[in-house]
Amino acid sequence: MKKVCVITGGGSGMGLATAKILGKNNYIIIAGRTINKLQNALEELSAEGIEAESFACDISKYASVAKLAAHAREIGVISSVIQAAGLSPHMSEAKTIMEANALGTINMHEAFYGIMEEGSCMLDVASMSGYLVPRINIPQREYKYSRINKETFINKMIAMINVFPQKLRSSMAYGISKNFVIWYAKTDAARFGQKGIRVISVSPGSFQTPMGELEKESVESHIKFCAIKRLGRVEEIADLFAFCVSDKAGYLTGVDILCDGGCVAGMKNK
Ligand SMILES: NC(=O)c1ccc[n+]([C@@H]2O[C@H](COP(=O)([O-])OP(=O)(O)OC[C@H]3O[C@@H](n4cnc5c(N)ncnc54)[C@H](OP(=O)(O)O)[C@@H]3O)[C@@H](O)[C@H]2O)c1
Repeated sequence: MKKVCVITGGGSGMGLATAKILGKNNYIIIAGRTINKLQNALEELSAEGIEAESFACDISKYASVAKLAAHAREIGVISSVIQAAGLSPHMSEAKTIMEANALGTINMHEAFYGIMEEGSCMLDVASMSGYLVPRINIPQREYKYSRINKETFINKMIAMINVFPQKLRSSMAYGISKNFVIWYAKTDAARFGQKGIRVISVSPGSFQTPMGELEKESVESHIKFCAIKRLGRVEEIADLFAFCVSDKAGYLTGVDILCDGGCVAGMKNK
């Protein structure tokens, strides 16, 4: 059986860069919504001699994610899942962002829990934005609904976000959804741990990717707070993802790794 690595958001940016590393020892399945993007990514991977395929999937829809999981299991044994798909504030409106980032992560955990095996790893990509939402605006008491009723959960998140003026809602949805991803990965690690599976989240700071380019204005305004005065290179985060899911990180679980060039530390200690 093949060792399979599933990468959502694998058609571009961090997901694609990670596929290039993990593709050396794994069969890669890249997933995303845009077929052309996935096709171009496959060509890049193939040019590097990497065995890969694409799977059209919208992670905000459980049925779509369940098909991805079932397909991946048919191909082989899942060694790792990199949940890199996500939408940033300039990409959509608040509800769609919340559904892709938060609901998408819940859907991925739900669909892959049953088919992942001992020794594998689920890595969720969060964001340093999850650390920058003022504590008072984090609806953490409502996060528990993610495990009770997903619709109630999303409605509660949107109600919190709608308290803000329209122009701030996408940014708030991004920050809160990523804060949720950090919480969800931490609090799901014990359940996965019973099966010998690790769960880690990584919170990137500002990186050079298509998303980073779109969020250029806020990304560049962050650099002055960083200990390292530049954007992160996509290979730097992809290498971290690859390490996290490798056997070398066998005792690493239930934790978020903030990889932001020292930005949050600089902002919180101005
Ligand atoms: N770049 C940064 O500075 C930065 C900073 C902090 C965190 N992050 C996080 O890092 C992750 C990777 O982002 P990136 O920078 O590599 O940006 P990117 O190149 O835009 O990658 C995001 C990918 O997610 C896919 N996607 C979006 N919504 C989806 C959905 N509902 N279902 C399936 N796929 C979906 C997109 O493809 P389709 O649109 O074709 O579906 C795209 O390929 C994201 O979670 C992002 O929030 C990035």
